[in-house]
Amino acid sequence: MTSAKPNLLSGMQPSAGSLHLGNYLGALVNWANMQDDFNAYYCIVDLHAITVPQEPAELRANTRRTAAQYLAAGIDHNKSALFVQSHVPAHAQLAWVLNCITGMGEAGRMTQFKDKTQKGGSESASVGLFTYPILQAADILLYQPKAVPVGEDQRQHLELTRDLATRFNSRFGDTFVIPEAVILKETAKIYDLQNPEAKMSKSAADPKGLVNIMDDTSVVVKKIKSAVTDTDGEIRFDRDAKPGISNLLGIHSAISGESIASLEARFAGAGYGALKGEVADVVVAAIEPIRNRTEELLSDVAELDRLLADGAAKANAQAEQTLAAVYDRVGFIAAR
Ligand code: TRP
Repeated sequence: MTSAKPNLLSGMQPSAGSLHLGNYLGALVNWANMQDDFNAYYCIVDLHAITVPQEPAELRANTRRTAAQYLAAGIDHNKSALFVQSHVPAHAQLAWVLNCITGMGEAGRMTQFKDKTQKGGSESASVGLFTYPILQAADILLYQPKAVPVGEDQRQHLELTRDLATRFNSRFGDTFVIPEAVILKETAKIYDLQNPEAKMSKSAADPKGLVNIMDDTSVVVKKIKSAVTDTDGEIRFDRDAKPGISNLLGIHSAISGESIASLEARFAGAGYGALKGEVADVVVAAIEPIRNRTEELLSDVAELDRLLADGAAKANAQAEQTLAAVYDRVGFIAAR
């Protein structure tokens, strides 16, 4: 890849069979837009996935489905490296080195581990889940990225990554670029259609609250038409008093680019049915081509795997270089 542009890395879990509209508008559109300004590396984190139990066949299927959806939604394999984490051995190798410069107390302060083990308790959690943030730091630092676009919930993991990079650099000499978190902006925050006070999430209580990229068109239309609203009959943006209508306006605006003010003016005096109809049209027009392209990619697994091998080759080239420097600095003798 050309070296004139700064590097960028982000990662996504291969956990869901389908991305939802919140993933798409919250992260993916931003990732696609950043490809022109950065050498972007996008990593499907299957090593992270097994920190909790996985069904092997399901993990394999979800890894390919995730890859296909990212490619279909605009990650261009000619511009960026889209790759699977386990295809690049340096992730696990650097994670080991970083494990050895991370304090137990430091790792124990990670709130995501505490959240994820709240129900079952930390006794039954895997050691892998405990060291998850350190593997994430390795994901990042291998690629010497300036920017790491992530959601707000990843802020603490990015701070740990910066701390580890700084510590390594001061102990062993300058090796890592200190990465900046790019916290994706709130404007495209998408809420649950049935519970519009909550963010759209795959763990939604009611599947009707969630629009999936892979949903059939008729299902998408039905979900939007049965979105929870209110009874005052006015179409205006007011997140506190009118979360349902505000969410519909927000979804429309995020996709169409039309301002909320313009939508409010255009829908003044109209019924909620008219707004829902137009939002459904806008959403369908955006996701139908992505679904179709995803299905096309999944219908030719050999070609999809070839694209991923291509991504892994680009990723390996950068990752091996960083790992070699790290191994040398810590005092490992070079293998001949
Ligand atoms: N932990 C991230 C999440 O749950 C996924 C992830 C793994 C990641 N490695 C990363 C994100 C590296 C950014 C950079 O969303």
